Amino acid sequence: MPKPSCRKIGTEAYWLSLPDAETERFENLWPIPDGVNYNSYLIGSGREYLLIDSSKKTVNIEEFLDLIKSIVEPSKIKHIVMLHTEPDHSGLIGEISRLLPNATLCSTARACTCMKRMFNVEPRAVKDGDLLTVGSRSLRVVDLPWIHWPDSMFLYLEDEGILFTSDAFGAFGALEKPVFDDEVDFPSYLKQAKDYFSTVVVAHRLMVLRDIDKIKTLGLNVKMLAPAHGVVYRRKIQEFTETMASWCKLEKKRKITVVYGSMYGLTERLARFTVEVLKEKVEKVALHDATADVVNPTLSDILDSAGILFVTPTYEANIFPPIAHLLELLRIKRLGEGKLAAAIVTKLWGGNVPTLIASRLKEATCKIHEPVCEFLNYPSEQELGNIREFLLSFSEAALQGI
Ligand code: FEO
Repeated sequence: MPKPSCRKIGTEAYWLSLPDAETERFENLWPIPDGVNYNSYLIGSGREYLLIDSSKKTVNIEEFLDLIKSIVEPSKIKHIVMLHTEPDHSGLIGEISRLLPNATLCSTARACTCMKRMFNVEPRAVKDGDLLTVGSRSLRVVDLPWIHWPDSMFLYLEDEGILFTSDAFGAFGALEKPVFDDEVDFPSYLKQAKDYFSTVVVAHRLMVLRDIDKIKTLGLNVKMLAPAHGVVYRRKIQEFTETMASWCKLEKKRKITVVYGSMYGLTERLARFTVEVLKEKVEKVALHDATADVVNPTLSDILDSAGILFVTPTYEANIFPPIAHLLELLRIKRLGEGKLAAAIVTKLWGGNVPTLIASRLKEATCKIHEPVCEFLNYPSEQELGNIREFLLSFSEAALQGI
């Protein structure tokens, strides 16, 4: 079980790493079998310190204070800044504020409203461009709403170019110890970051894109990105920023994602047949079972696919519920925009699933490759031939849309 620990990342700039291997679902929604990290930071200048964020209550206040005491006497903390209010970072803020009455709790005006009601505290509102000082050092407030809460902001440590980015640039995965981007297997890390983006952040992707542009416009000399989850970036800032921008734009690869549900294995067999056909035309075909416990990789594959194919049985004259759930996530998370979608439906004798699924795909703002195919029981050899033709035309149309 990874333990809380800290690491110096700059001149009197410390990363308090709070790994969480207990929580099973992030936001009680997204499975996180590898856990997640909460990152808090402490910036100082001899006599005065500024604390950024706290942790989810997976650690208690004594453990958190012990971590601070390993660096500095907590009474030296002059400012506590919450970059947004979500309780994975603000869980301990009420207790800390009461234990450190001389420290000023600050955040955006929007976050102040939330915190007053959630934690019975009296924070001070800061606004875009404000400077918070600790001794001779200053941290600039960069107001960046909707990453992914409406109340979010960044802080920029001017003398060392460290940008504290809250949930932006984050990733799933609890860390054994605080590590930089060049100290991890970065391709594996990117997978965790993509899963995090595709589930937690993606609905606000245009805001994230706007905020990346704002950082560029401000002309900040960023040498380090310090997010609220995941690793701290010092060598791969540009690479990761460009990758995240491509996710924000839902940039399509030559890839199709097939999502199926199957009660007794027949629809799964059909889904595997579709994969074999699609592979004739498309370099990468991802196959996902809608009933799988972990939905994150399914959304992550949909994120950069040119096309999505749903293969579903009929259930009580309706869409098979796990498929219906994924379609709902697609709508809520706005993951379908600009994607070409197709569907193949199996049924025993009745139901109107083709119309239902077409309507759900439209709600998810997908373009539909028509018609929705429908088969009684399992397709005959001749019908499999027709499906083959349909899939080849679907893959061609999807790739044309790149
Ligand atoms: Fe990591 Fe929006 O909290």
